[in-house]
Order: sequence, then C-alpha cells, then structure tokens
Amino acid sequence: MKDGKILTLAIESSCDETAAAVIAEGREVLSNIISSQIEIHKQYGGVVPEIASRHHLNNVNTVVDQALEEAGVTIDDVDMIGVTYGPGLVGALLIGLATAKAYALAADKPLIGVHHIHGHICANYIQHKELEPPFMALVISGGHTNIVEVEDYNTCRVLGGTRDDAAGEAYDKVARVLGLGYPGGPLIDKIAREGDPEAVEFKRVFLEKGSLDFSFSGIKTGVLNYINSEKQAGREINVPDVAAGFQAAVLDVIVAKTVGAAVDMGKDKIVLAGGVAANSMLREMLEKECAKHGLELYYPAPVLCTDNAAMIGCAAYYKYMAGERDDLTLDAIPNLKL
Ligand code: KG4
Ligand code: ZN
Repeated sequence: MKDGKILTLAIESSCDETAAAVIAEGREVLSNIISSQIEIHKQYGGVVPEIASRHHLNNVNTVVDQALEEAGVTIDDVDMIGVTYGPGLVGALLIGLATAKAYALAADKPLIGVHHIHGHICANYIQHKELEPPFMALVISGGHTNIVEVEDYNTCRVLGGTRDDAAGEAYDKVARVLGLGYPGGPLIDKIAREGDPEAVEFKRVFLEKGSLDFSFSGIKTGVLNYINSEKQAGREINVPDVAAGFQAAVLDVIVAKTVGAAVDMGKDKIVLAGGVAANSMLREMLEKECAKHGLELYYPAPVLCTDNAAMIGCAAYYKYMAGERDDLTLDAIPNLKL
C-alpha cells in the first residue's frame, strides 16, 4: 500500500513478450514495461517456444526491476503479485510464474494467478475508467478467438471459440503466404487499405446456424490456391486486393457473430481485447454495426491490446478484492480454460 492505494506488481510471459507492470487500485498504470522478442522470432516467421523461454529467463528480472523503479516503489510497497499462469507456451509461462512465486515468497506477498484472456479483457478497465461489467467481449489474438460473456469482474463465460486457427494466426499465415513478413496482422491491416475488398472473394465460414464458433484454417489454403491459380494463368498478384479480400472474409464473420451474440444476450456493450483488436478495419466495421444496434463499443489503446502486464495487474486486483488467493503450488497450465 502506498499513498493509501492498493498496488499490484504483475508479470506476463505467456508468449513472446516479457512484461511487468505496477498498477494502483486496479486501473491506474504506474509502469508498464514490455520487452518484445518480435525481432528475434521474425527470422523464423513465428514464435519459437524454446527461444522464447530462454529470452524470458534472461530478461524477466530486469523487466521487473524496471517496472518497480519506474513506478517509484519497492517490492515492500506492493500488496500482491499477479501473474499469468495460462494459457500459453508452457516454458514461457513457467519463467514468469517462477519469478512471481520467488517475489511472493521472499517479500511475503499474496500471489494471484491470472488467466491470460481474462487479462486481455481487463485491459479495457484501464483504458475506460467508467467501464463496468456486464458486457459482451470479443477476444482476438495470435492464440485465441473467443466470444465471452462477461457477467462481473471475475465471472466470464466463453460462448464460442475457434475450432482451429486463431484470427491472429490466420493473419500471420496469410501475410507469410503473401510475402509480407511477421507479425502479419499490422502489415495486412495497412496494405489492405490500398486494396479492394471485393476484387478477390474468399469464403465466409459461419459453421452451423447459431454457432458462435469460428474456423479460419481454410482461408490460408484459399489464399494459397488463389495465388497458385493466378500464377499458373500468368497473371500478376495484386497483394493489396488479396489482403483486403482475406480481411473482409475474416472480419465479416467475426463482426456478425459478435454483434449477434450481444443483441441475442441483451448486452448493450461490446468490448474488444487481444492483439487483433488493434485492427483498424475491425474497429470501423464494429463501430458501424454497433451504431445500428444501439450498442456501445470499447477497445484499448494498441499498447494495451497486445500482450502486456498492466492488464494482468488489473485482473489480479479484482480477484484479490474478491478474496481470491493462490499459493506456491500454482502451476502453469498451457491450455487453461476460462
Ligand atoms: O495478444 P497478442 O499480442 O498475443 C497473443 O496473445 O497472441 O496478439 C498478437 C497477434 C498477432 O497474430 C498479430 O499479427 C495480431 O495480434 N495483430 C493484428 C494487428 N496488430 C496485431 N492483427 C490484425 N491487425 C492488427 N492491426
Ligand atoms: Zn495475448
């Protein structure tokens, strides 16, 4: 406790960002340090788990020290330690978790395990100080695509998810096929602006009627087949058009299902979270649909969309306030359910 405020030190290491943050009263960011490994994994076209773990191990102590220093506090000032314990890459998760446990034990602080997706949703509480549950959340990242009914600060119900690739994964794969680089999401977002979304049409996969699940694995093949057939016919590939066509096919489905779920379940707010929530076309399309149905749309600033520890600190705070505590037996769970 400092200046009468409850402080959380949070650690996140589920994928390729080593992150630590200090949060006051759940929503006030005192520091938010993110050490990204994107440059390292770029040369492999994706995250290499083994390499990610090693870099987390090298960086985690520096990142935590920096977070405390920038916040102007010491470990003794904090009231709890929040940490992501799943889902994610097991080796990567273990580094953050072991670090959090070490601090919890050494400084005698409560340990609070946080679900990574719950953290992504909570990024919105930091961004929008007035936002309160209930609402419908769309969590879209490199690892997840979920429509989640958020009933209160600590109760989330997953209504649908991807049956194969996550939305971000589809963006990254298609970007690779188009020779754009990694991570593909922001690159497709940008180049699709120069293309015509109706020039090349890809299949919209809605699955069974009423289902809130997704399937994006077919679209990479669709893009590959299109490229091959155009090449065989001796035609030039218009990369912006293909990127725009791909994006339209993915986003049409995501927007229709998310808005449909909010309307059907009587929610008046939609909250975006996860790396793909930074996508400009998704925001535009959702703004339009939300306005049509009288829904309010919330999303975090880009730095709070992609992986960070501030969001984990926020989630940990609300669990702490509800009396939840973990102990040193807390284990990393790579496929943790919400
Ligand atoms: O949440 P995040 O940082 O990590 C995971 O938990 O997966 O999300 C990373 C994903 C990557 O697939 C990246 O390509 C995608 O988010 N992404 C975007 C954009 N910015 C990041 N996808 C589409 N448009 C963007 N502007
Ligand atoms: Zn994430």
